[in-house]
Amino acid sequence: MTETTQPTEAAPRRKLFIRTYGCQMNVYDSQRMADLLRPLGYGLTETQDDADMVVLNTCHIREKASEKVFSELGRLRLRREERRSEGADLVVAVAGCVAQAEGEEILRRAPMVDIVVGPQAYHRLPEMVARALRAAGARRGGRGAGVLDTEFPAEPKFDFLPAPTAVTGASAFLSIQEGCDKFCTFCVVPYTRGAEYSRPAAAILAEARGLVASGALELTLLGQNVNAWHGEAPDGSTWNLARLIRALAEIDGVRRLRYTTSHPRDMDDELIAAHRDVPALMPYLHLPVQSGSDRVLEAMNRQHGRDLFLRIVETLRAARPDIALSSDFIVGFPGESDADFDDTMRLIQTVGFASAFSFKYSPRPGTPGAAMTDQIPEAVKEARLAALQSSLRAQQTAFNASMAGKTVEVLFQERGRRDGQLIGKSPWLQSVHAQAPERLIGRLVEVHVTGGHANSLAGEVAAGLGVAA
Ligand code: SAH
Ligand code: SF4
Ligand code: F3S
Repeated sequence: MTETTQPTEAAPRRKLFIRTYGCQMNVYDSQRMADLLRPLGYGLTETQDDADMVVLNTCHIREKASEKVFSELGRLRLRREERRSEGADLVVAVAGCVAQAEGEEILRRAPMVDIVVGPQAYHRLPEMVARALRAAGARRGGRGAGVLDTEFPAEPKFDFLPAPTAVTGASAFLSIQEGCDKFCTFCVVPYTRGAEYSRPAAAILAEARGLVASGALELTLLGQNVNAWHGEAPDGSTWNLARLIRALAEIDGVRRLRYTTSHPRDMDDELIAAHRDVPALMPYLHLPVQSGSDRVLEAMNRQHGRDLFLRIVETLRAARPDIALSSDFIVGFPGESDADFDDTMRLIQTVGFASAFSFKYSPRPGTPGAAMTDQIPEAVKEARLAALQSSLRAQQTAFNASMAGKTVEVLFQERGRRDGQLIGKSPWLQSVHAQAPERLIGRLVEVHVTGGHANSLAGEVAAGLGVAA
């Protein structure tokens, strides 16, 4: 912690622990919640054990993800009892997408919870915490304060968030878009995050300048549908993501730009051209396709077919030949036949992915997919997932192996497990391990790749950086 000279910046009086589940939007939101609570005297702590307040920032995307929350709440109930026997207390808040989808249910199943706050209402957290603290003073038995806010307020929360404080590394997230209007039939996001919203360009550029000023070299633009971003430009016109990326790349000190997650339907020609023209835009794109079968894509309401996806891949590779692609896949969506699954396996062979996430379909309450009658048996889902993952793993390993012998620019971010080792990211988002002095953390460094493994690269820092003994 840095020493403060300003009397207003008092040292934290209370300890805050935030456990983050789910996607990068949640990681960003957790950082912003910490920023919001700092003026109330809360400073972040690394462990739940000494916390005065715990926030679970939750994910609802698959059943497994949301069930984790209830088991964690069970542990927190016991922890609060311990704290109270020590004469202290514990404020417990549930934020994120489970809070949004199951707010009432959380308070019913876990009445010890003090605060339930949805992803679009967390700018009101300070007021909710103040109420919870008052209620905690008069706490009887194991009950929590039960303050609930899962509204989608008319005012965008971004207008109420303080500027982000200290960046914790050279790579920072910047949320530019939220929500989704696409309603894929398997997905809860349109219900938990609400309608699509794009932040104005001026606010994004200001936040980017602030992040760069506090040490960020790499910005990852975030949104559930990030390439659908279309925001108000500083001159009052409307910009698309390609235009925003060009403006961000002009900020002095922005060395790397990424954006995630994109939808194939919104992958327009200008954005593809930005991959050709903007050197700071990294040669890597996460573009979820979900399935290679037109029939399944139609049932998923993805609003694109197999051909459109393949055409995008071709155009992207023509624009930026070294671009690496990653994707998301769902196996066992209702009605998926062996032939449909084969289409997915063929698509993988045609494209060649550098990395990918793949999941068994999980029926989510309230989504159209959950009500479909032709659900796929668990054993079939498992067999398909195993086959898919083995192909994807082979492609990822081959991609990593193809890097051996090359020199790549690595942004070092943290210490590795071995003594004297640092871990960083290549332009293609691979983890790179190398022996290097700690002063290189937060710097872009040329690394000679000595080997490519399934999940990472091994390398040696190029000569001239004072690394050799
Ligand atoms: N906005 C992104 C994805 C958000 S969710 C997009 O449009 O692609 C992240 C991934 O979780 C999805 O791409 C999908 O592969 C997976 N997913 C979403 N709902 C799911 C469900 N019900 N069962 C299994 N996987 C799911
Ligand atoms: Fe979910 Fe589809 Fe929207 Fe992505 S595009 S967030 S998968 S509804
Ligand atoms: Fe999960 Fe919500 Fe993100 S459901 S994946 S935390 S948008």
